[in-house]
Amino acid sequence: MSERKTPDPAAAVVLGIETSCDETGVAVVDARRGLLAHALHSQVALHAEYGGVVPELASRDHVRRLLPLLRTVLAEAGVAPRQLSAVAYTAGPGLVGALLVGAATARAFASGLGIPAIGVHHMEGHLLAPALEADPPEPPYVALLVSGGHSLLVEVRGLGDYRLLGETLDDAAGEAFDKTAKLLGLPYPGGPHLARLATSGNPERFRFARPMTDRPGLEFSFSGLKTQVLLAWQKAGVQDEQTRADIARGFEDAVVETLAIKCARALEATGARTLVVAGGVGANRRLRGQLVELAAARGARVHFPRPEFCTDNGAMIALAGLKRFLAGDLAACNLPVRPRWPLSELRPPAAQAA
Ligand code: KG4
Ligand code: ZN
Repeated sequence: MSERKTPDPAAAVVLGIETSCDETGVAVVDARRGLLAHALHSQVALHAEYGGVVPELASRDHVRRLLPLLRTVLAEAGVAPRQLSAVAYTAGPGLVGALLVGAATARAFASGLGIPAIGVHHMEGHLLAPALEADPPEPPYVALLVSGGHSLLVEVRGLGDYRLLGETLDDAAGEAFDKTAKLLGLPYPGGPHLARLATSGNPERFRFARPMTDRPGLEFSFSGLKTQVLLAWQKAGVQDEQTRADIARGFEDAVVETLAIKCARALEATGARTLVVAGGVGANRRLRGQLVELAAARGARVHFPRPEFCTDNGAMIALAGLKRFLAGDLAACNLPVRPRWPLSELRPPAAQAA
């Protein structure tokens, strides 16, 4: 698949670049030695004053950060560009301008070196991220991806063999946390602030709906919850600190219980014995606690990649690129960016190359 043949695939070294949203992530993964180095620049501070990601600012910041980050990571990995076997980049889904920065850089770099540039699906990166850890889960497993941009349950059966079990019909779980936090006057991104406030809240005072748990299925819907929160806040009478904390607790419990119910259903539906949790919301302590309990009750195992591999990062892209590279996946080479790219379009490499 490359102009320059890798003599020994086991010695493959892949550089990964992630720029799909508001994080510039770069990493180097070695087929034999694993992750050699990774670094991330978060744009949270840049977008904070706007209360959300501003796409044009995101693209410009990726342009500023990517090359210095790339140099740092290669130096830290002790890898010279000519030692690389391939360069992987996030081809989608994501913000088009942001994706283009990573894709153009990766493709130019790879072309200069005469090695393949491998376009990676961002969600495939998240789904494979647990393999960056020691003692990785063996497929088949169920992955719950809950971040600011996505909320989905997927059955992972192997590389490129994913079955979407359910996703959100509206807001992502993290988005629901952030919007609700904003209503309560908390800074962006509000998820961690809301979770902190909820620790001093009374769980009995406000009970919000557990959306879409009263019917079968693995779909989510979180947008109605913020309206319930708004009404509760307006009707509360005294809008003091305790009321805010009580509402935060009621909201957090509603989201966490909803996610836990759907995870239990997904384990039952697939017969999988392992649950993997990824995405920023996976950092939520109450969610972690409930999922650990739920898995224990079913004799299943729950796996949380370390926080920096749960959220957007370059390592997961390097790893997914390495796996596609080792599988000789021609179809992944030089993929144009795809701001919208359904996970259901992914195929195992052999099927694609055939
Ligand atoms: O995966 P992630 O870092 O990236 C993007 O989606 O860009 O996820 C960020 C999301 C935000 O919505 C944030 O509020 C949420 O994860 N989040 C949390 C917690 N920590 C981060 N939500 C609830 N509880 C937390 N402890
Ligand atoms: Zn992501």
